[in-house]
Amino acid sequence: MRILVIGSGGREHALIWKLGEHKNQLFCAPGNGGIAELAQCKKTGAENIPALLKLAEQLKVDLVVVGPEVPLVLGIVDEFQKNRIPIFGPRKEAARLEGEKAFAKRLMKEYNIPTAEFEIFSDEKKAKKYVETKAGRVVIKASGLAAGKGAMVCPTKDEAFAAIEKALVQKEFGKAGETIVIEQFLEGEEASIIAITDGNTIVPLIPSQDHKPLLNDDEGPNTGGMGAYAPAPLITKELAKEIQTKIFNRLLVALQKQSIEYCGVIYAGIIITDSGPYVLEFNCRFGDPETQPVLPLLKSDSAEVMLSTIAGKLAQINLKWSTDYALCVVAASAGYPGKYEKGKEITGNLRNREDVLIFHAGTEKREGKLYTAGGRVLGVTGIGSTLSQAKQKAYLALEQIKFEGLYYRNDIGDKGIRRIEKN
Ligand SMILES: Nc1ncnc2c1ncn2[C@@H]1O[C@H](COP(=O)(O)OP(=O)(O)O)[C@@H](O)[C@H]1O
Ligand SMILES: [Mg+2]
Repeated sequence: MRILVIGSGGREHALIWKLGEHKNQLFCAPGNGGIAELAQCKKTGAENIPALLKLAEQLKVDLVVVGPEVPLVLGIVDEFQKNRIPIFGPRKEAARLEGEKAFAKRLMKEYNIPTAEFEIFSDEKKAKKYVETKAGRVVIKASGLAAGKGAMVCPTKDEAFAAIEKALVQKEFGKAGETIVIEQFLEGEEASIIAITDGNTIVPLIPSQDHKPLLNDDEGPNTGGMGAYAPAPLITKELAKEIQTKIFNRLLVALQKQSIEYCGVIYAGIIITDSGPYVLEFNCRFGDPETQPVLPLLKSDSAEVMLSTIAGKLAQINLKWSTDYALCVVAASAGYPGKYEKGKEITGNLRNREDVLIFHAGTEKREGKLYTAGGRVLGVTGIGSTLSQAKQKAYLALEQIKFEGLYYRNDIGDKGIRRIEKN
């Protein structure tokens, strides 16, 4: 099979690695230095839909897999479907679940999917008046896509006012912040539940846990994710059942009632509170870095799963999983998520082993040498029969890699390891 993956991060490298089974021929637009070893990289940008369509036609691909959210929200799937190219991902109307938080929140409320209490505003004065009436912390979110920077946790009223002004007055998020969601702050531990749906059946992958803050112990500014592991012991069998019935099954009903066909990945960002799981947000694509530890544990043929989903036959698929754990640590450039330098040479052992997989996020290959080309540079995933073992393997492998300014968190997976030890 000929497969085109769209995107250029660690998620896409993991997808390419997994889709490379069964001698599939792989292409990636635009790809990165690591992806280039497994796939033919094409320079077309991930958001240039007309050029991507042309490319897919030229390459005569049998399957297109979309990594990032922007092309999905822009409607890449609609365009490819019009041209009869099999593509894995939701259409524009369905991708609103990620692209418009206000839409997702209203849908959740209407169909009784547990989510934080909220109101929606585009008027500064009304928004501030609402905050005045709220006791306790609030979270203020730009409704549209804001590259992970649009959610602001506000411990005080002053911070909430500042967040409202940032979005509605200073327009720091542009159009994406012209509408905001103000919601109640929920206390609990988070997990990522990535699921696949064809609109009739919804099948969760193993649960994972991301680490958004830059520093150990979840301190410091938020990033795109500094590491992740799977399966996350936070999600017990009982919780998984509750998530299926109260969140995913209700979401399927909601989409069907709204006549929205949804096909592809549906990712629920979940927080486990004392009164059960609540949805923080929906995403319409694979999570990054979560995909890096999740896919290596999937034993099923990923291309077959995706094609069956596109054909509406997901009910016939039984996903098979390894009993191992996988843990991914992100190696970032000094300064990230703020300003950072690029073009540092990467040296050391970057070879994949049976129990260590190195996915590239921001790298570039020039004249046989590898250089940093982004804030998140590499994701190093260790695989082991226990979570502690997976952690050890990831960190040992990471110690053998060098570039100027290399930074990583030391405590990826510790919340999970502590939970397992306690039980
Ligand atoms: N209601 C909430 N209560 C507590 N924390 C929240 C809440 N909403 C969001 N957060 C925190 O902010 C992060 C980002 O919010 P999210 O809704 O996932 O937006 P995005 O990923 O688009 O930036 C979450 O992972 C969580 O840590
Ligand atoms: Mg999120």
